[in-house]
Amino acid sequence: MNSCTPTIRNGSRPFSEDFARLAAQESLSRQDLVKILGAKKPEDIEAVRAEAERVLLANCGDGVFLRGLVEASSACACDCLYCGIRKSSRDVNRYTLSLDDILACARQCADYGYGSMVIQSGERADKKFIDLVAEAVTHIKAETRSEQQPDGLGITLCIGQQTYDTYKRLFDAGGHRYLLRIETTNPELFAKIHPSDQTFESRVECLGMLRDIGYQVGTGVMIGLPGQTLDDLAGDILFFGKYDIDMIGMGPFIPHPDTPLGDAPCPDVPERIRLALLMIAATRLKLRDVNIASTTALQALDPVGREKGLKFGANVIMPQMSPTDVRADYQLYPGKPCLDENAKECQSCLNMRIEFAGRKIGLYAWGDSKHAVKRRKRDDQPA
Ligand code: 5AD
Repeated sequence: MNSCTPTIRNGSRPFSEDFARLAAQESLSRQDLVKILGAKKPEDIEAVRAEAERVLLANCGDGVFLRGLVEASSACACDCLYCGIRKSSRDVNRYTLSLDDILACARQCADYGYGSMVIQSGERADKKFIDLVAEAVTHIKAETRSEQQPDGLGITLCIGQQTYDTYKRLFDAGGHRYLLRIETTNPELFAKIHPSDQTFESRVECLGMLRDIGYQVGTGVMIGLPGQTLDDLAGDILFFGKYDIDMIGMGPFIPHPDTPLGDAPCPDVPERIRLALLMIAATRLKLRDVNIASTTALQALDPVGREKGLKFGANVIMPQMSPTDVRADYQLYPGKPCLDENAKECQSCLNMRIEFAGRKIGLYAWGDSKHAVKRRKRDDQPA
């Protein structure tokens, strides 16, 4: 494509026909994805964005599903080189919410009509913590049933790599979705950003266990990691497809100064925002019916980053529900938004932002991805 690329007008925004045609292709190859991720001119980016939004609305509708996010513990047994709550970070106040705290957050989610919640934490496999999570899940299932939501809140877990038995126990307790980011699907890059006791293979194995047990499985990557290429990112999208992933959560890498990757060279902020938005769009174009979250990390780099994520094809937002007094102790990266707002303030701010993006809030619904719904129907068919 060159500077003579014809542009046509879409409403008031110019967009290029070449990129519109590329984005509308039936089956995008690795090279096509690289080209989409490399879009730089505003008219090229707009063409990709508009097609991703069209594909989203056609396949998933205009609802934005909310998952109240509760950060249950900032303690972590891992030492990931990018993460602000890594085990070796001495300045982190390590807290664990009580069962009552977690249940209070769940009740608040239910009261606000958020159809589901996410229990996230540092990676901990100790019995005390797993018992706490299992008990919390059991209580939430029993105590959040209502007329509007007879099955109670949907529960997504995001507590890292665990054994098969732990995953199974939490599933049997009522957790039905699990998020485990692969971080990058380039095994060499994975090895550069993790200590040697964490392997790419074991994470992939965990994703397989989660699927076998029956969870809806989510994964995702960081975007703009030091040394990461467009080809790596295209490979990430193909990986999501190959592993039949239902939900994607991904966001820009944000260097944390107290970590070994704090000074590592990475693309500048506008470039990471551009790449993160195009990753959402390209993933939507390739996978069509999955749920894609517009993540907090995007908002950390751009005050309207999450709204932009919705316009580029995302359909899930995870409003912050952790008690205000612990939010600052759970900072995976600097610049985390909503640190001192309470859940009520987050709620009204979010409603406004979603409506501003021209979308509807999907209240009192688990909001399973269409992809997972279709697989369930397939699995239920008699052989
Ligand atoms: N920048 C962006 N995202 C990060 N995460 C952890 N540290 C950072 C960082 N510095 C993401 C990882 C992890 C998720 C919970 O948060 O992808 O899986």
